[in-house]
Amino acid sequence: MTDPLHDPLFFSDPYSIYDRLRSASPVQKIPTGSKGHYSYLVTGHAEARQAFADPRLSKDTARFFAGQRSRRNLHPAVSKNMLASDPPQHTRQRGVAAKLFTTGPVAEMRPYIAQVVDGLLDGWKPGTQVDLVERLAAPLPVTVICQMLGVPEADRVMVSRWSNDLFAAGEPDRIDASSHAIGDYMTSLVETARGKPGGGLLHTFVQHSDEGLLDRDEVVSLAVLLLVAGHETTTNFIANAVLALIQHPPSLTRLRQDPGLIAGSLDELLRFDSPVGIATFRYSTEALQLGGIEIPAGVPVLIAPGAANRDPASFAEPQQLDLDRNASSHLAFGHGIHRCLGAPLARAEAEIALGALVTRFPGMRLAVPSEDLEWRQTRLMRGLKALPVIL
Ligand code: HEM
Repeated sequence: MTDPLHDPLFFSDPYSIYDRLRSASPVQKIPTGSKGHYSYLVTGHAEARQAFADPRLSKDTARFFAGQRSRRNLHPAVSKNMLASDPPQHTRQRGVAAKLFTTGPVAEMRPYIAQVVDGLLDGWKPGTQVDLVERLAAPLPVTVICQMLGVPEADRVMVSRWSNDLFAAGEPDRIDASSHAIGDYMTSLVETARGKPGGGLLHTFVQHSDEGLLDRDEVVSLAVLLLVAGHETTTNFIANAVLALIQHPPSLTRLRQDPGLIAGSLDELLRFDSPVGIATFRYSTEALQLGGIEIPAGVPVLIAPGAANRDPASFAEPQQLDLDRNASSHLAFGHGIHRCLGAPLARAEAEIALGALVTRFPGMRLAVPSEDLEWRQTRLMRGLKALPVIL
């Protein structure tokens, strides 16, 4: 068997491949790479939910790779964070940031998000063509998280480029270099925050480190994680949602006529074309059974929210966008202890961006045929390179 995720069709139409795999078995062994390595891929919804919550599937990547000779040269601080740890470290690392990303603090960010969206849409004229990825979906999340972290405006383009480069599939040197650039940059920003009392996420994290809750590398790593985790994901969310709505005109019309329905539609939009196709790396610390399949100890396990969210056993007619559906059990934000910390922020950004677009540009349509849209060549993310629309 060849690696099904290396099928050339995967980027433009992952769903037919996910469907084929899930019908064969919701959990299965797949070859990864060319050197005889393999992983277990989870494509069923019930099985993915179970896997996300299983403590025998570890996120402590440092432990998995310990002892393996690696030619990689990542910045030492970039992976000392909650997304690469298990309890009790995970509980401690997540605990210091969790309260800052709940609905309350995010509600306080809404006026700023609206101001950024207004600024980005400034001067757009109905009837003209814009690339919604470049002009809205990409700059919005990075501007918002940089503001929260206190990254100066002049540095944001550079920081955003490093963050994107961390996902440069097949380019390990570029990934290593950007990890050093972003790690060094954040280290100096954290040091500046140390001497500057008075608000900002970084200052709060520095206080936690002074109280002994986080070490210095963990503060830097947390800042890098927040920057990176909410960046491309939210870009994909906004662009995939706009595309889905343009391709389903009655749904677009409903939201335009009643923008109050947007917040309640976000779950279905996340389910329908999930921004994260395959969640981050896990491995089995002991042998376990999942979906009737025996997974041995010490192997990588890939959980695919993109596949789980189209599982007909959990969502009737999953290939249909149905804004009336209760889609709240989708796994686009993961599940269990690593469930997305930034979900309320991502929702607020998408709700405000979609609201502005559908009300200001009611006639918005694609500028190219759907088949000509180009998707990013990454297996983890599901996102467009560009979304050209006529406003
Ligand atoms: C629509 C946009 C987003 C999507 C689809 C998304 C998706 C996810 C998923 C699937 C996970 C779990 C990964 C796993 O278990 O392997 C996750 C974790 C995480 N996300 Fe998001 N994310 C989004 C936006 C954000 C934003 C805006 C932030 C913060 C600014 C953020 C911060 C995080 C963090 C810190 C974690 C790690 C949580 C932990 O390990 O305990 N995400 N996200």
